[in-house]
Amino acid sequence: MNKKSPHLANETRERLLRRVEAIQDAASVESSTGFAAQHNSSDSTDFSTLPGYEDLRVYRALGQKYGLENPYFRTHEGRAGAHTNIAGQSLLNFSSYDYLGLNGHPEIIAAAKEAVDRYGISASASRHVAGERPIHLALERALAEHYGVAESLVFVSGYATNLGVIGQLLGPKDLVICDSLSHNSIVMGGVLSGAARRSFPHNDLDSLDHMLASARGHFQRALIVVEGLYSMDGDYPDLPRLIEIKNRHNAWLMVDEAHALGVLGQRGYGTAEHFGVDPRQVDIWMGTLSKTLAGCGGYIAGSHELVEYLKLTAGVFVYSVAMPPVIAASALKALEILHREPERAAKLRHNGTVFRSWATESGLDTGNGAGTAICPVIVADSLPTVMLSQRLLERGINVQPVMHPAVPAKAARLRFFLTATHTDAEIATAIRTTVEELQNIRGKMRTLTAQA
Ligand SMILES: Cc1ncc(COP(=O)(O)O)c(C=O)c1O
Repeated sequence: MNKKSPHLANETRERLLRRVEAIQDAASVESSTGFAAQHNSSDSTDFSTLPGYEDLRVYRALGQKYGLENPYFRTHEGRAGAHTNIAGQSLLNFSSYDYLGLNGHPEIIAAAKEAVDRYGISASASRHVAGERPIHLALERALAEHYGVAESLVFVSGYATNLGVIGQLLGPKDLVICDSLSHNSIVMGGVLSGAARRSFPHNDLDSLDHMLASARGHFQRALIVVEGLYSMDGDYPDLPRLIEIKNRHNAWLMVDEAHALGVLGQRGYGTAEHFGVDPRQVDIWMGTLSKTLAGCGGYIAGSHELVEYLKLTAGVFVYSVAMPPVIAASALKALEILHREPERAAKLRHNGTVFRSWATESGLDTGNGAGTAICPVIVADSLPTVMLSQRLLERGINVQPVMHPAVPAKAARLRFFLTATHTDAEIATAIRTTVEELQNIRGKMRTLTAQA
């Protein structure tokens, strides 16, 4: 671990901070206007002249000056759930999407082994070319039943599901309108489609309604895309209101349940259960197998016509290899356990509630966090956020920082992901340590500012 002094020459620090501020300002202008700065490069084949490359160097230099390690790409030596091992150190872990603690469950491992024995690892080609495997069909049937809809379809990647499905369903005469905090895969799906794109302020459904009122008439089809649970803020949209809006404006509604499945609702069934809404009122349910279901891949659930159309036309399905059967078998078993053991979702809900209430009682800023499995702790500036993450690691707690451009420049944060297997004592330790270290870091930052 780098134990270098956090002090650096005032002049160097000022220069670096000015540079970081300039990057953040430019990025804010870029995101608010939609125009990127022009990059004049004398050598268009040099990868280091690509936009953003120099910024990476600046951030690295800043990290080195402050004795900070890169908080990303750390190597976990085994399974990462409520606990993990990094560099030989056993840590409390708050950076895993294994919400229900199913990764490594003995029944899932047994199902995976059975599938490997029967199918090998790879499906070796797309389902169009190489034909079906019963395990894919069984998983799709189970997901459709979970949502109470006609059919579902699974894809090898959650990211590619959004990209390829939104990209396929809409075209240049259409409109895609999504929440401003939408995941990159949703945004890029809109780009791929060639449709007109709009975004409404986070969870501001009045704005959505107004935007549709003025724009809907100009387009053939319209798709509203929201997430069931937002992974940066840990909050969720008002689903009944969304359904009312989409019906009134004759639009499709797509809900990405990547972080909602297993987390929201009495039994962890997701957003529809949370609101007591009939899931058939949503046109397109999307989700991932990579989080609660302890696998990898994405799914779409909805009407027969939707699934039939995607199965025959979406390039991301037609021209891509089928999900490895071992993953389908694992996800199917995980879904079965989610249904069979609702106490896991109940425990996770308890953890989300106590984390947020104890954190706010201790003076931490939990932003929009709604007391679910995702709880942000807002620090504001990037540098103290990375420092805090590092100090917590040194004290046995792994939690990742999130900074601009993933969140607004002055809203850098730590994101705590809770699982059903965290204990109250572990949550209390994490909060107490975070409060202590944040106070220390803020004190140090004040001293540095006074010295400058
Ligand atoms: C809301 C949302 N949608 C889609 C994805 C992509 O899923 P995957 O990581 O399984 O490809 C993510 C990933 O974290 C996500 O948060």
